[in-house]
Amino acid sequence: MTSATCTAVYFTGAGTTRTITERFTAAIEAAGITARAVDITPAGSDVPAFGPDDLAVFAVSSYGGRVPAPALAQFAHCEGHDTPAVLIVSFGNRAVDDTFLELADTVRAHGFIPVALGAFVAHHSLMIDVAQGRPDEDDLAAIDTFARATADKLATAATARDAELADIPGNRPYRDFHGVPFRAQADADLCTGCGTCARQCPAGAIAPENPAATDADACITCMRCIIACPAGARSLTGGDALVAQRAAFAERLAPRVESYTVL
Ligand SMILES: Cc1cc2nc3c(=O)[nH]c(=O)nc-3n(C[C@H](O)[C@H](O)[C@H](O)COP(=O)(O)O)c2cc1C
Repeated sequence: MTSATCTAVYFTGAGTTRTITERFTAAIEAAGITARAVDITPAGSDVPAFGPDDLAVFAVSSYGGRVPAPALAQFAHCEGHDTPAVLIVSFGNRAVDDTFLELADTVRAHGFIPVALGAFVAHHSLMIDVAQGRPDEDDLAAIDTFARATADKLATAATARDAELADIPGNRPYRDFHGVPFRAQADADLCTGCGTCARQCPAGAIAPENPAATDADACITCMRCIIACPAGARSLTGGDALVAQRAAFAERLAPRVESYTVL
């Protein structure tokens, strides 16, 4: 089968999933497939339509070995028609657990056929002493190889069904994950009320009319608002507990984990 175009949709809090997705789309373009990467992270952002000759890409970060809930909600608006799909997961040097299976179950229910998957190590957005500098040159080279291999696989398959992945790693029921005990918060003295954070939030946790307040129940600690705030007014709660947990994770997750792909 031929895929003339590639449409990649990605969910990113701290930006590494964007970096990984854009590396993939650049490499797939080099293989002769016109590609675009679309950020669907902010709540309510439009999802693109997938054409008949599209190769779809769904890219997410792994949170607690699961797909971030707002990403699942966004992907549920995507419609494929036996459209081949690449699954990409970024993770912070621990493990992805059931992320691929949850992602595959969701996109399959919406007309997509997983044909390839890639897990790429990235700087841990929360435990910030883990996996610094990832994705590094080796990870980026693995993405390039993965994109070329995906294009080759599709070129030699008659249909997406012929290229379908036999097994998706993961277990049902999916791993239990109820978030981390840290949340984004604003310093009301620094907040200018510009509303950038509210527009970027994937979880609807920040009201545009009062961006200095954060709904702690809704916040998923993705870091997006903290990075986006032009006034530097946003940070994480947690204090000493966060410092201690970062140190513990840095020790536990120090051994290097490699990115990997399945085709
Ligand atoms: C709430 C939360 C949970 C996370 N859980 C995991 C995990 O279970 N395993 C892992 O390896 N990394 C985990 N990470 C790290 C992210 O998967 C990693 O930093 C990823 O690159 C973030 O992508 P982004 O930069 O696109 O937001 C977690 C990060 C956050 C914020």
